[in-house]
Amino acid sequence: METILTGDRATGRLHLGHYFGSLENRIKMQYNYDTYILIADVQALTDNFSNPKKVRDNVYEVALDYLAAGIDPKQAHIYIQSLIPETAELTVYFSNLVSVSRLFRNPTTKFEVAQKKELFGNNGESITYGFLGYPVSQAADIACVNANLVPVGEDQLPHLEQAREIVRKFNKIYGETFNVPEPVLSKNPRIKGLDGNEKMSKSLNNCIYLSDSEEEVAKKVMSAVTDPAKIKKDDPANPDVCMVYYYHKLMKNPNIDNVCKECKNGQRGCVFCKRELINNIMQFLEPIQERRRYYENRPEEVEKILKEGTEATRKKAMEVMKRVREHMKLDYFE
Ligand code: TRP
Ligand code: SF4
Repeated sequence: METILTGDRATGRLHLGHYFGSLENRIKMQYNYDTYILIADVQALTDNFSNPKKVRDNVYEVALDYLAAGIDPKQAHIYIQSLIPETAELTVYFSNLVSVSRLFRNPTTKFEVAQKKELFGNNGESITYGFLGYPVSQAADIACVNANLVPVGEDQLPHLEQAREIVRKFNKIYGETFNVPEPVLSKNPRIKGLDGNEKMSKSLNNCIYLSDSEEEVAKKVMSAVTDPAKIKKDDPANPDVCMVYYYHKLMKNPNIDNVCKECKNGQRGCVFCKRELINNIMQFLEPIQERRRYYENRPEEVEKILKEGTEATRKKAMEVMKRVREHMKLDYFE
């Protein structure tokens, strides 16, 4: 059976960008693959090292969101990254196979470096060794279970490309050890924000969270960017420049053809249109939030799922690392 490895940083609750960008794919694929899903607490610490409580709390929030969204703990191993020490070991071996300049050239890292410079000034002090190296530890996450498929959103592609380079180099130097992992992208690998931003992202403050209440969803939808040319209710408008329309499509509104026609004909008011979207989003979120409440009320069950997922991952990682040490001639007392 082929193996999937994927996951998310424990930096906050999951939102619709996570769901349509990748989670939906993982939920579908979990039945046909040996699936490992990590909650990346070590990687979250690269940005939040001075805030361990935040990371710890978010491990639990992400676990709840996974279970709520439909990751089935009978199908997939949900695990905590820091509890697989083999990953840390493999990160050290991998760190010889990547140059510092290559790490700085990674487009996602570049973007994050620019963000940090904006926040902390231009002196480079904010760029730690751990931050720069997290794509290497991400490669180790993947290789530690010898995964060949990695379902992720578009922003993760540069990291995956880097993982592929590292793994190929390892195989070339030390002999065939790892599968070269392939990304699996969803139909919508990047979800735009209702505010018109190119990406739904926590740092842009434009997320609809899987756990948002109707009130929160309504507030966000009501302030969405629509066609600015439409001023009165019966002005004709262009749905293709409207974020509400984009979300109607994303939510697979069965009434989508009418939305389009009525908008173009000036037979549809934006407030009405937004209310329809709020209803559709809440209908979509309802079963997710019901499962979330189930697990919120059963913390021991969540803990057991994480513990078992972590144990299963550790077992696999230990097998893989045994082979790694043999191939690297580090198997001293075996
Ligand atoms: N970088 C991913 C994120 O920001 C999380 C992650 C860590 C990951 N290790 C991974 C994703 C390995 C895929 C494969 O959400
Ligand atoms: Fe957008 Fe709907 Fe208003 Fe048209 S009617 S501009 S699709 S919100």
